[in-house]
Amino acid sequence: MAYFIGIDLGTSAVKLLLVDEEGTVRNTVSKEYPLYFPHPGWSEQHPADWWDAVKRGLKELLAGFDASLVAAIGCGGQMHGLVALDENDAVIRPAILWNDGRTEKQVEYLNNVIGREKLSAFTANIAFAGFTAPKLLWMRENEPENFRRIQKIMLPKDYVNFKLTGVHACDYSDASGMLLLDVKNKRWSREMLEICGVPEAAMPRLFESSAVIGTLLPDVAAALGLPQAAVVVAGAGDNAAAAVGTGTVKNGDCNISVGTSGTVFIASDAFGVDPNNALHAFAHASGGYHLMGCMLSAAACNKWFCEDILHTKDYAAEQTEITDEKLARNDVYFLPYLMGERSPINDASARAMFFGMRMDTSRADLTQAVLEGVAFALRDSVEVARSLGIGVASSRLCGGGAKSPLWRRIIANVLNITLQIPAAEEGPGYGGAMLAMVGAGLYPDVPACADALVKYKETVSPDPALAALYEERYRTFKKLYPAVKGIL
Ligand code: XUL
Repeated sequence: MAYFIGIDLGTSAVKLLLVDEEGTVRNTVSKEYPLYFPHPGWSEQHPADWWDAVKRGLKELLAGFDASLVAAIGCGGQMHGLVALDENDAVIRPAILWNDGRTEKQVEYLNNVIGREKLSAFTANIAFAGFTAPKLLWMRENEPENFRRIQKIMLPKDYVNFKLTGVHACDYSDASGMLLLDVKNKRWSREMLEICGVPEAAMPRLFESSAVIGTLLPDVAAALGLPQAAVVVAGAGDNAAAAVGTGTVKNGDCNISVGTSGTVFIASDAFGVDPNNALHAFAHASGGYHLMGCMLSAAACNKWFCEDILHTKDYAAEQTEITDEKLARNDVYFLPYLMGERSPINDASARAMFFGMRMDTSRADLTQAVLEGVAFALRDSVEVARSLGIGVASSRLCGGGAKSPLWRRIIANVLNITLQIPAAEEGPGYGGAMLAMVGAGLYPDVPACADALVKYKETVSPDPALAALYEERYRTFKKLYPAVKGIL
């Protein structure tokens, strides 16, 4: 008998899962931490808050269970965040997160002065505001004192792994989002490190996601009541971890995640680049590669509208009035660019808007517009994939937004695809636990583990009449951003 722990280091909270050898989730715990917006468009968190939440979460997760049976831990984490440590391994400044838009100038420099072709040749990707390399340039320019103190660079989940093991490691899927990795050849790009003024010694050692990076530090093991021999695997970026957790590991498999961000993730065995770089070309936690579109605010739009505007946490109650006959008949549209947008428009200055309101527009119409606007923006990424000849006919769906039956139905019909809902709701956390199982030797590789463990509890199919109506609405949605681009 052994237990495995999956950790999903998200943007609003860390979610921890205790999984047994059969793959059954025995306990889950979630611990929130603050997210700071110190200037408009900036987004930061304190790594100490993550570590504190992980420690408290682990204690709660293991209460009532025999912690000595924990064999391995795997973490999936929010991608791209810049965590910089000084010579004493102290955090130099708050982490600059994946949805931070401060680096517009540096992105412009990378994409237009260094040039997209070179970036794409070095890394398989171009610069986007949330990626790690432009943040290093921003720090060098705006906080030279802090920049000079950098001894180690890491991504959010790597900080947690570092606190657990003392090992400075990163996996290929998460490293792909730094714009510092030569994704095709799975090694740091010397050219990009030079452009950013960072020595290779500051970079973490690279591993496959299911590879063991080390065992628990003695004091950490003692404080948490865990066996010191428990191994920690390299883990993955949260989207790759979610893809593992939802069984998205075979060539052409698709997973859509509706979390704080919204992503369309397409697994592929072979390395490939979108010639327009609208989709990211990253390594997968299964050992292969993937293409991914990422919208910066997905479930975050609904959270913002319900909590900050309507002042309610009862999301389901807001959706009760949105009955079937109202779907695709709403004249209100919502552009979901609350934090700017990444895929496919790459515009950190884009902003959200409601459009088409009338005197009879209701609160429920606005809620519906938010849910539909997010689905339309997901479709934008699916359309890019389709334009590359990738036929997306079905997908897994995960993330907090996937819990709403209404939102699932809207997404299935806007995208006109079948959605499979995995039985284990916590995609990245379950994926983290699966990577831990592979690392501990329970399965030979990630696809074998996915074959054995991932189950689906529901399929949501599009309805042709509704999908046709949404097709028309999508065409109207497509006109909105070009019409308002650059006004603000
Ligand atoms: C992916 C991305 C987001 C974060 C969210 O490129 O930026 O999905 O990983 O945690």
